[in-house]
Amino acid sequence: MCGIVGYIGDKKAKPILINGLLKLEYRGYDSAGISTLENSEISCVKNKGRVSELNDLAEKQNLDGSIGIAHTRWATHGKPSSENSHPHMDNNKAFSVVHNGIIENYSELRDFLTKKGYHFLSQTDTEVIPNLIHYYYFQDTSDDSAKFLRAVKRACDDLNGSYAIEVISSLSPDRIIVTRKDSPLVIGKGKNENYISSDIPAILSFTKDFYLLNDNEYVEIFKTGEKFYDRNLKSIKKDLKNIDWDATAAEKDGFEDYMLKEIFEQPRSIRETIGSRLRENEKTVLDDICLSKEYLASLNKIYIIACGTAMYAGLVGKCLIENLCNIPVEVDIASEFRYRNPIIDKKTLAIYISQSGETADTIAALKLAKSRGATTLAISNVIGSSITREADYSIYTHAGPEIAVASTKAYTAQVTLLSIIAIYFAETLGSCNKGLLNELKSDIFKLPEQVEEILSNLNDLKAFAKEVHREHDVFFLGRGNDYAVALEGSLKLKEISYIHSEAYAAGELKHGPIALIEPGITVVSILTNPLLLEKSISNIQEVVTRGAKTLVITNQELKNYSFDMVLRIPKTNPYLSPVLSVIPLQLFAYYISKEKKLDVDKPRNLAKSVTVE
Ligand code: F6R
Repeated sequence: MCGIVGYIGDKKAKPILINGLLKLEYRGYDSAGISTLENSEISCVKNKGRVSELNDLAEKQNLDGSIGIAHTRWATHGKPSSENSHPHMDNNKAFSVVHNGIIENYSELRDFLTKKGYHFLSQTDTEVIPNLIHYYYFQDTSDDSAKFLRAVKRACDDLNGSYAIEVISSLSPDRIIVTRKDSPLVIGKGKNENYISSDIPAILSFTKDFYLLNDNEYVEIFKTGEKFYDRNLKSIKKDLKNIDWDATAAEKDGFEDYMLKEIFEQPRSIRETIGSRLRENEKTVLDDICLSKEYLASLNKIYIIACGTAMYAGLVGKCLIENLCNIPVEVDIASEFRYRNPIIDKKTLAIYISQSGETADTIAALKLAKSRGATTLAISNVIGSSITREADYSIYTHAGPEIAVASTKAYTAQVTLLSIIAIYFAETLGSCNKGLLNELKSDIFKLPEQVEEILSNLNDLKAFAKEVHREHDVFFLGRGNDYAVALEGSLKLKEISYIHSEAYAAGELKHGPIALIEPGITVVSILTNPLLLEKSISNIQEVVTRGAKTLVITNQELKNYSFDMVLRIPKTNPYLSPVLSVIPLQLFAYYISKEKKLDVDKPRNLAKSVTVE
């Protein structure tokens, strides 16, 4: 989830590229870089840190070309550093590339290129691309002006994963070649100049006329024109679109708020978190951790420690790990764990979940477990964050920067990653039958599309939220994993709508909370586990009888029951259902907050990263 910009025209590229990067910084900000072409030579400046620091550095360099590409990075492979920043070049410095996305088969491609004599300066997946282009360019014995394009296409044919790519070459210094697959890219048309970007806002101040690129299309972009090609390099025509957004709407990709944008990004962030880790009929690959069968078998306990939403993701992880690996798992709130003298020894694995990787309590809880001999594993969304520097092992969700204070896409990425980790542990231990693991894998692969399906049908939910927005109390009920999601749904509602809400394990209702149910009160229930269905329905009937207004989120058949609203979600394994059932809950909170005209992205009293106790 990085940002890319490009320019070709009569003006100096550098200030245009820096201006574009500054507008894209919200997409990634751990490092940035630019390459420009002048007199058939590529000059490149890149640096760890913010775009303003790159600008200071670029001021001191001779970057006068009027063709250039640029990138602001959110690390996925390799820590933030100058070497890992984009642009990347081939060993002969003939091709310079910026890339958004993840190349899943990069280690195989690295091996292939290493055998051909190429070497690598970074830990990134991207560096294989300029070297592959170089390799294919010199494999091609013909010598025509399409040779550069053919080399880019042949390199892309080898790539698995997602990418939006810009390439310049000292061997064809009159053009930029771009292509995309599962990662956005647009071309902005000016007069005798062209702009390129992953996101419209970066270049909206220069032009409002855009070509929107589709997957597997290639473009040769010149100062005065552009040539479009399909996946077989057959020439195609594309229409210009006039995009009349204002700058603020554009930064949010046309969404009203970052939170809504992030909710809609979930199919992609889940897909990128799965990446190439999970493989059908093959062992799961988690390059970043190395925990042997003997070590896992020796464990007497796993702790999962986190705060807020990340802790609720941990509850889903507990269910997965206990059931697939047969190891007891205790989930705890970091601020409690650190002060309660927990029982920890060498046979303890402590897993810490933190989107930001900077939450003070979670870091302190990690240091405590480490000092008492536990092995520590961090799950974070930010490469190189404090928690990942402290932990013995780190593994990343690839959700991209989360700007809205209320966490959405980080949660679904955390649950997805925890399911992958549970499968990895189970495969290593041999603790679970292969049939179940294969079923789970195939259900995980389906999640991104199923989230898309939920996101495509929201009108009834919006209408229900409108009815509820003036209320003062809302209850959420569920059993098992549905209870874990009820907690997260309740937290979302509190945070952004300021409505008091409580989540209860449905079976607890009769032990007290049912006293609060009175006519008209809203109860949201989640029902996704067929084994617990009858019991949960009885609990909902108890609140219906007392006059509650009921929203039921389910993937089960509910005949002969009358609830005020039933929202159907796709079927999946109950271990994974939180990834799907949380989506309507995120939107329920969002629509209520909008109806109340509140600031969805920056709710009162809250901060995105809680770096103090
Ligand atoms: C809720 C929310 C918070 C965070 C919590 C932990 O929407 O965002 O509850 O989940 O503050 O933050 P991280 O994951 O950054 O440690």
